[in-house]
Amino acid sequence: MARILITSAIPYINGIKHLGNLVGSQLPADLFARFNRAMGHEVMFICATDEHGTPAELAAAKAGKPVEAYCAEMHAVQAEIAKGFRLSFDHFGRSSSQRNHRLTQHFAGKLAENGLIAEVSEKQVFSIDDNRFLPDRYITGTCPNCGYEAARGDQCENCTKQLDPTDLINPRSSISGSTNLEVRETKHLYLKQRALRDKLEAWIDSKKDWPILTTSIAKKWLNDGDGLQDRGITRDLYWGIPVKKGDQPWPGMEGKVFYVWFDAPIEYIAGTAEWADANGQDDAAWERWWRTDKGASDVTYYQFMGKDNVPFHTLSFPATILGSGEPWKLVDYLKSFNYLNYDGGQFSTSQGRGVFMDQALSILPSDYWRWWLLSHAPESSDSEFTWENFQTSVNKDLADVLGNLVSRVTKFAVSKFGTDVPAGGHFGPLETALIADLGARIADYTKFMSEMEVRKAASELRAIWVIGNEYLQQAAPWSVVKTDPEQAQAIIRLALNLIRVYAVLSAPFIPDASATMMKAVGSDDWTWPADISAAMRTLPAGHAFEVPENLFRKITDEERADWQTRFSGVRS
Ligand code: MF3
Ligand code: ZN
Repeated sequence: MARILITSAIPYINGIKHLGNLVGSQLPADLFARFNRAMGHEVMFICATDEHGTPAELAAAKAGKPVEAYCAEMHAVQAEIAKGFRLSFDHFGRSSSQRNHRLTQHFAGKLAENGLIAEVSEKQVFSIDDNRFLPDRYITGTCPNCGYEAARGDQCENCTKQLDPTDLINPRSSISGSTNLEVRETKHLYLKQRALRDKLEAWIDSKKDWPILTTSIAKKWLNDGDGLQDRGITRDLYWGIPVKKGDQPWPGMEGKVFYVWFDAPIEYIAGTAEWADANGQDDAAWERWWRTDKGASDVTYYQFMGKDNVPFHTLSFPATILGSGEPWKLVDYLKSFNYLNYDGGQFSTSQGRGVFMDQALSILPSDYWRWWLLSHAPESSDSEFTWENFQTSVNKDLADVLGNLVSRVTKFAVSKFGTDVPAGGHFGPLETALIADLGARIADYTKFMSEMEVRKAASELRAIWVIGNEYLQQAAPWSVVKTDPEQAQAIIRLALNLIRVYAVLSAPFIPDASATMMKAVGSDDWTWPADISAAMRTLPAGHAFEVPENLFRKITDEERADWQTRFSGVRS
C-alpha cells in the first residue's frame, strides 16, 4: 500500500467555475484520487478556495458585502457544487483559514531568517479620496501600449501586456473612479528567487518523467530574459494574511498583507492541517503527509492544474519550500492541462461565456459531464466542447453501450430465470476469449490510470464496455435460450458478473452509475479486478440481483438545440 498525496489547484473564490476550470484541475485530480483509493492505497486529496487578492475584494464590493461574509458564502456555494460533481476531497479548505495565516507567516519568517527576503521601497499609486494604495486591479486607465481605455493596473485585457499601475495613462481608482491620485513611496517584501535559481533548475532537471508541457513552461520562466526575477510578495491591501515574521510583528510592514500567490499554494499544506482539525486529529496526522522528517518520505505527491498555473508551482512555490530550509515535501509529479474551449470560442469567467458548474448540474446529472469532460480532457492540446459532440458521446458511450448492456442483461435474466444468478451451463470458448481480452485491456486501463493518461484511460474503458456488448451480440442468450437454456444461463451468469466488474472499473469516471450497477447486482465488493478470471465468478449461482433504474437517458435533438441557444450568450 502506497501513500498518495493529491492536490488540485485551488479555485478563486469569486464566482462559480466553468467546465473548463473543472476539467483542468479538480476533475482529473478526483479521477486519480478515486482510482488510487480503489487500488487500496492511502490517499489524501486536498482542495480549497483561493480567497485573497484584489479579485475577491472587488467582487465583494460589487456584491455589496463585506469581503469576509462574501468569501464565507461563496465557499459554501463552491463546496456544494463540488459535492454535486462528486469531487471526493478529503478536505475542501479555505486559504483564509487561521491555519494558513500561521503557516504563511511561518514560511515568510523562515525565508527572512535565511536571508531570502529583501525590503524594497518603491513608488505606488495612492488614492487620496479612497485613502489607500491602489495595487493591481484597483486601478484603471489607458494602456500605454495599445490605447485601450479600460486597462487594469496589472495587465491590459485588450493587448495582454503586463503592466505596472504607474504605467497607465489617465489613471483612475477602480473603487471610486477618483482621479485624485498621487505616487507615494511604500515598502514591500521581495522573495529573492534569483538566489534559488540553481537549486530550482537542478530540481526541475531531476524530473525526467514530467510531461513536456510542465517542464517547458518551467524552463521558459527559468531562462526568460535575464532569468528568474525576484518577486514582490506583499501588497497594500486590507484583505489578506497580515505580514508577520512567524508570530512576531514585522517592523515597517504594519497594515500590509501577503500577496495572494504567496499564500495560496501554502494552503495545500494548511488545508491538510484543517482536515486534521476537522477530524479531531493532532498535528502529527497532517505532518506525516508533508514533513519528510515526520513520516512523509514515503509519500508520493501529485499536483493537478491548468497550464497558466505551472510557473507558480514549478518556481514560486518550490522557492518558498526550498528557501525555508525545512524538510517539507515538494511535488513529485505535476500534471498540467491545456485549455478547453467552448463552441468556437473561449470559456470566459469575466465575460460569462460557456457553461458554468451550477448550470451544468441543473440540466443533467454529474456522470454525464464527468464522462464527457474526462474523455475529452485537453491533455496534448487544447480541446473543444460542442453540444453536438456532447450529445453524441453521451448517447453512444453511456446510453447505447454501457446503459443498454446493463438493462438488457438484467431484464432478460429476470424474465427467463428469476431474480437469482442462474446456475446452469459452463463457460465455453466465447466466454474464455472474452475473459482473456478483458484481462489484457484491464491491465492497459490500470496502467493508463496510474500514469494519469486521462484520455487514453477513457478510451480503454470505453473499449472494455464495447467488448462486453460484442460478446453479448455473439453469444446471443435470447436465441440460445430457445435451444440450450443451460448455456443461456451460463452466458447470463457471466454477464451479471461483468456488470459488477464494470461498476468497479467505471467508478472513478462515473461514480453514481457505478453505485447503481453495484447495487443492482446485490454486491458491495469493490475489489479491483486484477485477477479477471476470479472476478468474473464473484457472484455465485443463487445470488440475488435486481433490474436497476435506467442508467443513462439519451439527449434529444430538441434538448441539444435548446441548450445550445440557452448557453450561447453571456451569463449575467
Ligand atoms: N486560484 C488560482 C487559479 O484558479 C489557482 C491557485 S493554485 C494555488 O488559477 F497554488 F495557489 F493553490
Ligand atoms: Zn493594451
